[in-house]
Amino acid sequence: MMYAVTVSEFGGPEVLKYVEVSMPLVKTDHLLIKVEATSVNFADVKARYGNKDRQPPFIPGLDVAGTIVEVGEGVEDFQVGQRVIAFPQGGSYAEYVVAHTNLTFEIPANVDFTTAAACPIVSFTSYKLLADVGRMTRGDAVLVHAAAGGIGTTAIQLAKLLGASTVIGTVSKEEKVATTLEAGADFVINTSKENFVAKVLEITQEKGVDLILDSIAGRVTEQSLLCLAKYGRLVNFGNASGETATIQTADLTASCRSILGFSFGTTRKHRPETVRDTANKVFEFLENGSLKIVIGEKFPLEEAGKAHKLMEDRGSKGKILLIPPTSTIV
Ligand SMILES: NC(=O)c1ccc[n+]([C@@H]2O[C@H](COP(=O)([O-])OP(=O)(O)OC[C@H]3O[C@@H](n4cnc5c(N)ncnc54)[C@H](OP(=O)(O)O)[C@@H]3O)[C@@H](O)[C@H]2O)c1
Repeated sequence: MMYAVTVSEFGGPEVLKYVEVSMPLVKTDHLLIKVEATSVNFADVKARYGNKDRQPPFIPGLDVAGTIVEVGEGVEDFQVGQRVIAFPQGGSYAEYVVAHTNLTFEIPANVDFTTAAACPIVSFTSYKLLADVGRMTRGDAVLVHAAAGGIGTTAIQLAKLLGASTVIGTVSKEEKVATTLEAGADFVINTSKENFVAKVLEITQEKGVDLILDSIAGRVTEQSLLCLAKYGRLVNFGNASGETATIQTADLTASCRSILGFSFGTTRKHRPETVRDTANKVFEFLENGSLKIVIGEKFPLEEAGKAHKLMEDRGSKGKILLIPPTSTIV
């Protein structure tokens, strides 16, 4: 048996229960991993409120860092004792998880468990959004919404590392401005005080930005098109607002602009082979210290509900980690 957090029914943070459950079973081509830390992603909050994918009770969570304690039949490239990050199958808010070898990656020697646990979803997703889907090139001006968050602080750094000329972030609260500047943004717009469209046009001398990372959807997507340059790309990869946007084709044709979509979940499921290449690129930045994952808070696994509340109240900065009682992380 092991301890895990389950979504007991769909609802608020209080439905997260810390309970004893059976250990997951190791199958062919899978690994059993003892979890040192797992991270909270906004997708976990959405999953807790309910979607068509899973019915309660289930263990939420997408990514872990830990140590391999058992290998399944057919496994050749991994050994017991190896430090890895992984995207497990049955949820990550647990003391032990099982993951397929094609979604497990050895942690570079000089990267500690804390950074490793905070990085998987945010760094892999950010890299794919910028380099692959958003086709960022050197000299591009980039706008990142929810810039002080896990994805935001990581995407800002990666945009700079990939050669962005200007990175602009939006945040909803004054206390998030410093975090966003520390991540490397050239400008931060507090949307509770300023109109981000007017400010972006002012910063870019009316040209607009070349790439927008939009995890908000709805009105924010519609307004973002008002400050997207000719040939610009807007990548929508989330709907934190819970709204949908209406797009006019006339807004795209003559201006040669594109609206793109991306889901790392879909990519893990349908194109897992593309994730290893992304991991190698991101690990280079982590190993040489040029990418520093911003960690805002650590909570004991048992207090996952508090962590969720902080995130959905828009109070979190950087990543939130959950630490199981059996972890060596203090
Ligand atoms: N498609 C993918 O593969 C993928 C992968 C990872 C993440 N995502 C998406 O990327 C976004 C960021 O994820 P994250 O895990 O790094 O979370 P996060 O940015 O650390 O936290 C979510 C942030 O969203 C912003 N937000 C805007 N409207 C909100 C609302 N109505 N309620 C709550 N928050 C709101 C808040 O920032 P402000 O208060 O500063 O606006 C909040 O801090 C999420 O929307 C997530 O779903 C997508």
